[in-house]
Amino acid sequence: MNDESTKIVAIDGPAASGKSTVARQVAQELGIVFVSSGEMYRAFTWWVLENDVDPTDKNSVLELLKSTKFICGKSENKSTITIDGKLLTRAEMASEPVNQNVSVIAAIPEVRARLVAEQRAYAEKSGVVMEGRDIGSVVFPDTPLKFYIDASPEVRQQRRAAEGIEDSIANRDKIDSNRKASPLVIPEDAVVVDSSYMTAEEVVGEVLREIRART
Ligand code: C5P
Repeated sequence: MNDESTKIVAIDGPAASGKSTVARQVAQELGIVFVSSGEMYRAFTWWVLENDVDPTDKNSVLELLKSTKFICGKSENKSTITIDGKLLTRAEMASEPVNQNVSVIAAIPEVRARLVAEQRAYAEKSGVVMEGRDIGSVVFPDTPLKFYIDASPEVRQQRRAAEGIEDSIANRDKIDSNRKASPLVIPEDAVVVDSSYMTAEEVVGEVLREIRART
């Protein structure tokens, strides 16, 4: 499994644990695609709000899901998502209304099934570093390259505040960890890294060392 084109690196963790920064840099080092699965849930949440659908009205959300065309692509080795012909921007996906509603949408099993299929399709074409909540536990349970990036709630809240982003991460974590469908868990065979007092570079270094040791 030395061939980068077949590597599947799963990186999970709670909101603002730094996993996205780390996953992006690890993907760059390995020369494979970085996929933010959270952006997919964010993109569909944006679309729900854009269509004036109440996120708590499951039937209407599922009605919209049925008629929604996703195109999951990549640009400069990073995942992109186009919904019904519109390429979503990071600002749209990270907006406050999306932050507030994404965990409710992501708790719907049918939404997850649709997006998990899109996530697996990435790995059919090339190696990936994918970050999210259920990547090691559900999306790619067979990969030996599983990581769980953690940080204390205080540090995570500070990181979001420093980015100037309004984000109720405690509320999202509560919903993400307690939902029935694919909750946030630490996969049994994952390497756990507490990034509270580490720089992103240190975490990246540790993840790369572990990947090299395991392949
Ligand atoms: O990773 P990010 O914070 O952008 O994810 C936004 C939300 O998307 C999470 O709070 C969670 O509700 C949902 N999500 C998920 N499963 C994933 C990735 C994200 O449920 N694999």
